[in-house]
Amino acid sequence: MSLSLLDNQPLKDAMAATSQAVERLMEPLLAVPSGPEARVVEAMRYAFFSGGKRLRPFLVLASADLFGVSKKQALRVAAAVECVHCYSLVHDDLPAMDDDDMRRGKPTVHIAFDEATAILAGDALMTMAFEILSDELSHPDPNVRLRLIRNLARASGHHGMVGGQMIDLSANTHKLGEAEVYRLQQMKTGALISFAAEAGAVLGHASPQAVSSLQGYARDLGLAFQIADDLLDVEGDPREVGKATGKDADAGKATLLDIMGVERARKQAEILANQAIEHLSDFDDKAALLRAVAHFAIFRRT
Ligand code: IPE
Ligand code: IPE
Ligand code: MG
Ligand code: MG
Ligand code: MG
Repeated sequence: MSLSLLDNQPLKDAMAATSQAVERLMEPLLAVPSGPEARVVEAMRYAFFSGGKRLRPFLVLASADLFGVSKKQALRVAAAVECVHCYSLVHDDLPAMDDDDMRRGKPTVHIAFDEATAILAGDALMTMAFEILSDELSHPDPNVRLRLIRNLARASGHHGMVGGQMIDLSANTHKLGEAEVYRLQQMKTGALISFAAEAGAVLGHASPQAVSSLQGYARDLGLAFQIADDLLDVEGDPREVGKATGKDADAGKATLLDIMGVERARKQAEILANQAIEHLSDFDDKAALLRAVAHFAIFRRT
């Protein structure tokens, strides 16, 4: 892999700018109230402003850029999907789920606060996403807002992330085959990534052909991204990845690594990332960052 693919400065700059912009937007929306409910907002802030790659917001902004969408609108949709993602991490780390103590290099929300507060903070981050999308500031056309709300609801719920998390948990007692693992990963991780990559097209009233290219891109990217996450669990340095490693095999998680071994899974992630890029052939140079992030998804160290 050439250095330019691993060390892409325009991509790094764009991802850093995405993080800053999303955090600036969320700051006033997560202002801490004065009443006793302040604690849940402190936990929401702790979960949201804790770093993270902000991949999903980045995908919204990069796809919106293809269709000349206003940055202000795209940023709100970017913040909404990151709220759902942060909620999913807070709940994923709970003792009833993966029982993790570290996330993004810090104690998880239920460790820093308590379990009940972590559950509530997750709930409130999820609902905040829909509050953000339903606001006129997100798009003047109510049909566009409704489409975004429906897409995010579907990607988050039992057809998507929640459904995937359920299969992930039940896989401890029921061994999955390769096709079932792909389905699980497409639901638990791919669905939100697909929402993000498609959101720019929804905001920009893109053609069905453009939507379908982005869907193809996101599907392969989401799978590659989760394989990379599973590889980091085996090979990553916990100080670098910011969360415990070496847990999936012990927990009996259904991963491609479990089925095909580390080397073949790594190869599969590369194939998927390249396939993702091929879906973007209609977009010329405008999609350079989306192509670059497909490489980042699999070669990242965090
Ligand atoms: C971790 O997601 C959970 C998965 C869906 C694989 P990320 O790797 O995007 O986590 P952050 O947001 O960068 O912390
Ligand atoms: C979680 O997958 C995906 C979510 C929907 C949160 P993992 O359980 O593998 O994510 P990490 O490794 O804890 O970030
Ligand atoms: Mg999990
Ligand atoms: Mg986990
Ligand atoms: Mg993992």
